[in-house]
Amino acid sequence: MLTVRPLEKLGTAIEVPGDKSCSHRAAILAGLADGVSEVKGFLPSEDCLCTLKAMMQLGVQVEEVNSTCWGPIDLRITGTNMKLTAPTGDLDCGNSGTGMRLLAGVLAAQGFESRLIGDDSLQSRPMGRVTVPLESMGAKFESEGEKPGCAPLRISGGSLKSIRYEMPVASAQVKSSILLAGLFAEGETTVVQPAVTRDHTERMFADFGIECKVDGNSISVKGGQNPQAADLQVPGDFSSAAFWLVAAAAHPGSELRINTVGLNPTRTALMTVLERMGAQFEIEELGSNGGEPIGNILVKGKGLKGTEILEEEVPNLIDEVPILAIAAALAEGTTTIRNAEELRVKETDRIMAVVDNLKRIGVSVEEFQDGMVIEGGNPLKGAEIESYGDHRIAMAFAIAGLFLSEGEIDIQNSKCIATSYPGFRDALNTMRTGGEVKIL
Ligand code: S3P
Repeated sequence: MLTVRPLEKLGTAIEVPGDKSCSHRAAILAGLADGVSEVKGFLPSEDCLCTLKAMMQLGVQVEEVNSTCWGPIDLRITGTNMKLTAPTGDLDCGNSGTGMRLLAGVLAAQGFESRLIGDDSLQSRPMGRVTVPLESMGAKFESEGEKPGCAPLRISGGSLKSIRYEMPVASAQVKSSILLAGLFAEGETTVVQPAVTRDHTERMFADFGIECKVDGNSISVKGGQNPQAADLQVPGDFSSAAFWLVAAAAHPGSELRINTVGLNPTRTALMTVLERMGAQFEIEELGSNGGEPIGNILVKGKGLKGTEILEEEVPNLIDEVPILAIAAALAEGTTTIRNAEELRVKETDRIMAVVDNLKRIGVSVEEFQDGMVIEGGNPLKGAEIESYGDHRIAMAFAIAGLFLSEGEIDIQNSKCIATSYPGFRDALNTMRTGGEVKIL
């Protein structure tokens, strides 16, 4: 259990751990590459370690160059030059949808059988969104779970043909899965996304010398390209920074610097929204690392007012909705979050989980199939919170705990935080009492 008491004095500077999306991709691409890649700032969270371990089971060699108490962060990865070997056992993706969907793309093209497994949450998430297009490329998937179309997935891979695929959902995981399969396919594979989604795969392809054509919302990759080993530094995770951005933005008079964080424009819509709500940001650009723009963010807390989230902003802040809902609860007036039905198939049903927990802390909220409307500005009261095993729910409500007007917040089932931010609890203790947090 994680107990959070109200803020004494918000810390002034923080560094967040490596980006989760980039860490998964670095493990996979370095593992497929020809040669030895140095990956610095890898996120040693449960999700990313599952992907790394799966790549090791497929023949990739990983040497730990530096580590923290949570696991390896600087890695030397010896790639297989696109020649993975059959794994001896199941490949366990834990809680990670990204890991499973991206690995499914790679395994679809291998001339051996493999099986992807995951925890209870992952076994209830839709995998048809990747298995349908990957089957049309020539792979065979058997969904062995209790729920149709869900994991465990048994994969019989082989030679693939290229496809042009119009994705029914705006999902970077689906896009990336098909593009990874496309590297092994005959001809050019094209994915058309209904809205812009995070583009880490396309950017990291360039680092590994893979050509990929982006034309508006369609992305194409030619098969037969071998990634070349690359050295890269994973930027700080904007989605982890989001918790501190909101803590500072909602605390009038605070000034918080978040150092060396990824500022990929397909990830940062939360800042646009918080600005509309009244927060002030200054960005110090620090160039780019591994194709990803990075910088320091200075947030000035001003007291927030409600806003409406635009439909086109949703894919760009999808992981930030739980913490955005806390900002909305702390803001004066109404905040509307709609067009976000995807939240129902994340690590848990995040619409249900956010609405349930907001009610527990005394916030007035109306639930819709595709989102919620929150009436903010009333005092928050202490309560027992249920994380539903979802890291972002646990962390969002931990931040709410800083702003209680009475009592404390007890987060049940808080171990899940380690799936994306293993150092969160320590960071929270330091930030609640005015300190500074550095990684390493
Ligand atoms: C991710 C994409 C998003 C996001 C997830 C990570 C990725 O999922 O929610 O946490 O790394 O590609 P979808 O692309 O399926 O929306």
